Amino acid sequence: MKVLILDTPDAVSARAAGLIASHVRDKPDTVLGLATGGTMETVYDRVIALHRAGEVSFAGVTSFNLDEYVGLPGDHPRSYRHYMDRKLFDHIDIDPARAHLPRGDAPDPEAVARAYENAITAAGGIDLQLLGLGANGHIGFNEPTSSLTSITRLKTLARSTRDANSRFFPDGETPPRLAITMGVGTIMQAREVLLVATGEAKAQAVAQVVEGAVSARWPGSILQMHRHATLVLDRAAAGRLELYDYLMDVHPE
Ligand code: F6R
Repeated sequence: MKVLILDTPDAVSARAAGLIASHVRDKPDTVLGLATGGTMETVYDRVIALHRAGEVSFAGVTSFNLDEYVGLPGDHPRSYRHYMDRKLFDHIDIDPARAHLPRGDAPDPEAVARAYENAITAAGGIDLQLLGLGANGHIGFNEPTSSLTSITRLKTLARSTRDANSRFFPDGETPPRLAITMGVGTIMQAREVLLVATGEAKAQAVAQVVEGAVSARWPGSILQMHRHATLVLDRAAAGRLELYDYLMDVHPE
């Protein structure tokens, strides 16, 4: 694991966007795994800025998002499809036909999950998977006790996750109980993984992911077993790492 600790959330977003852009420049037909959530909003702002500056084109890229709420159609303002369209896809030159999310409102979500996993395989697998981190250690919507070899499937969201995400449902609705999510095993198949976490609310999860035992209690801890995982953290998210000084010393910028 490469753990980079930067001063501010802004610096984290800029670094993450820079890493994504340089990956796409090196391999223009990259298959990207994408994430949603609050942390990614500023990452995507930076990605869009790089695209507008002519520094990166997504014309050859295929993408697969991690997850989608079950029951929400793509045009629902709280769906992740809607999030991705508004916050990224509408502002870059990715081919919309190659920007994939599971369909949350399909009549048979389990069939959608199976087909999604197959589509990732058919695309040649994910080259670079972007991840946020839940305060409970989830990656994608793989909540604690998720099988560490799981593939794309339906998961029931933890109460704490639904509470955390209720900030995106300001109109009195509550987040759905179920989501379709890539599995931990799906994520581990990605050739490279980039996890981004900021803020003190993530500090315990970060400490468990980086320094704790590999365990389904903290699903992100499986990244210790990944050959090419980079974590980009701000000081607050890194604040509970015992190895903080060591990590600052090995990667001073
Ligand atoms: C989103 C996702 C989640 C989030 C995580 C962090 O597609 O898969 O794992 O990345 O819940 O969310 P924020 O950034 O809102 O704290």
